[in-house]
Amino acid sequence: MRLIILEDASVVADWAAQFVLQRITQFAPGPGRHFVLGLPTGGTPLGMYRKLVQFHKEGRLSFKYVTTFNMDEYVGLPREHPESYHYYMWNEFFKHVDIDPNNAHVLDGNAPDLAAECRRFEDLIQQAGGVHLFIGGIGPDGHIAFNEPGSSLVSRTRVKTLAYDTLDANKRFFGNDMSKVPRQALTVGVGTVMDAKEVMILITGVHKALALAKAVEEGVNHMWTVSAFQQHPQALFICDEDATLELRVKTVKYFKSLMVEHNKLLEITR
Ligand code: F6R
Repeated sequence: MRLIILEDASVVADWAAQFVLQRITQFAPGPGRHFVLGLPTGGTPLGMYRKLVQFHKEGRLSFKYVTTFNMDEYVGLPREHPESYHYYMWNEFFKHVDIDPNNAHVLDGNAPDLAAECRRFEDLIQQAGGVHLFIGGIGPDGHIAFNEPGSSLVSRTRVKTLAYDTLDANKRFFGNDMSKVPRQALTVGVGTVMDAKEVMILITGVHKALALAKAVEEGVNHMWTVSAFQQHPQALFICDEDATLELRVKTVKYFKSLMVEHNKLLEITR
């Protein structure tokens, strides 16, 4: 596991976008050879999406041969609802780049059979050959995707009832009215994300500092589901200074000393 500590949220966004650019460019996707990307929604990755759109507009990055799988979607929220993850992804990212809509997969939270929809999603990931890079975000309680505290660390895509903390954190998107936040979501499992070849988790803000400390300094614990990624062979935690406030000075110093090595990850060697 690598922890990359950057100045603030905008530097995190730039670093993450550069990393995606590097990985896709190096893979050299083409017909019959797609790069497979796992994607989050939320406030944290917005800056990264903006930067990726900019790279696309500058002619530096194409998504023509990229297949994407989103982490999650609310149950029962119409697709065109401004808070649905379909709406977010199309408006913040997909419509601004050259991705083939058939290759941009978002779980259908209105499917008549939700369990079948989750199985279909897992099958699609398999058929795509697995995820090359899964990007994620975490909640202040350490959830990754909608894998709430207490979720199985080998879980697969499934229906999940959201925890109080998640409803509370997300009510800001629903007019601060918790009763309007959907109670359930479809989400990839921790195991689904663990299967990706590489995982990059973005963590910014002091409100995520405890979750980051649990993720990095304490043991693997199903009450902080992001901690499972300590055991992933290629996991990157990208955070800002504010998110490090609960870490030991020793931890921060160690990972900062590796920054030259970390920045080599951005070099395009192709
Ligand atoms: C989003 C997702 C969630 C968010 C997390 C943080 O697809 O799966 O895990 O990444 O709730 O959300 P923000 O970035 O809004 O703080």
